[in-house]
Amino acid sequence: MRAVVYERYGSPEVLELRDVSMPTPQAGEVLVEVVAASVNLSDWERLRGDPAYARMGGGLMRPATRRRILGSDVAGRVVAAGDGATRFAVGDAVFGDLMPRDGGFAEYVAAPQDMFAAKPAALSFAEASALPQAAAIAAHAVALANPGERMLLNGAGGGSGGLAVQLAVATGVQVTAVDAAGKLDFLRGLGAVDVIDYRRDDFTRRGPFDLIVDLVARRSIFAYRRALARGGRCVIVGGTTRALLRMATVGPLLGAVTGARLGVLAVHQGPRTFLPVAEQVARGEVSVPIDGIHPLEALPEAIARHGEGRALGKVVIAVRDDALLR
Ligand SMILES: NC(=O)c1ccc[n+]([C@@H]2O[C@H](COP(=O)([O-])OP(=O)(O)OC[C@H]3O[C@@H](n4cnc5c(N)ncnc54)[C@H](OP(=O)(O)O)[C@@H]3O)[C@@H](O)[C@H]2O)c1
Repeated sequence: MRAVVYERYGSPEVLELRDVSMPTPQAGEVLVEVVAASVNLSDWERLRGDPAYARMGGGLMRPATRRRILGSDVAGRVVAAGDGATRFAVGDAVFGDLMPRDGGFAEYVAAPQDMFAAKPAALSFAEASALPQAAAIAAHAVALANPGERMLLNGAGGGSGGLAVQLAVATGVQVTAVDAAGKLDFLRGLGAVDVIDYRRDDFTRRGPFDLIVDLVARRSIFAYRRALARGGRCVIVGGTTRALLRMATVGPLLGAVTGARLGVLAVHQGPRTFLPVAEQVARGEVSVPIDGIHPLEALPEAIARHGEGRALGKVVIAVRDDALLR
């Protein structure tokens, strides 16, 4: 089968389209013919091995042999099942989040059946592949907000943010969205009441906010605390290793002495979290912004488009020709 493989951490040029052997489904696993896959920030981080946590479990010096195909969000069809994998029949359309094992930028992938859900019929394979990781993050973030509250979302113009803004607005939350200047009109269009260009303005000097969710954290915990209302909460979802460590260790302490809550949001991946959002998309209540659809051989350019901040919405890889099929 064809797959995009990398053997060392680096820029998109280290990615190579190759013929590799087909995976075999183990007990409890299904073999899925991938129709579409989408790019996440985690793919960009694992490609470059930066931040340092992106190498955890995946090879410190170079990507481990079993982790040389990136791609965690996929949609496709079940073509075989391992022993005891009885949830899906051959031919079923499924979608799922394969993190941390990945392997989705390939014509076939084998993974535990529990990582997949049946694809809602109203969604194309491309739309379904754009959802799993972003929907899980967005659902967790928005579950922390109450109607009427002021929520600030940093990194709002990416895959998770675009969904989180819509979900929050739909529940009556007032969203201030922070991202690059070129994404601010898009964020207003999704319903944000206020927008901030992170290259020009420091959101921690605005507010106060009842809830801050940072998808790309880089700030000190004191800066976050400054922007919180009395009794406010701040969670960081991703960002620099330093910001994550500081928030995980000092955040709860600072929160305890100042009457706020500060911490790292651990996202529980999987169908239970992403399927309800996918069903909202299927009902037309929320849209899944897609920047563009690229063939598998164009993965290096597509992943660069995401990683270098040129994408407006999710970057999707059409592994087969029928990615737009519902
Ligand atoms: N906690 C968990 O359990 C867990 C699980 C999975 C993933 N994650 C993390 O969750 C995050 C998900 O992000 P995503 O998939 O939505 O990423 P994404 O699609 O890459 O979006 C990130 C957005 O942030 C913007 N951005 C970059 N630097 C920024 C800055 N300094 N200030 C404000 N905005 C900035 C980017 O814009 P430009 O690049 O154009 O500037 C982009 O629009 C990632 O950090 C990932 O590692 C966490």
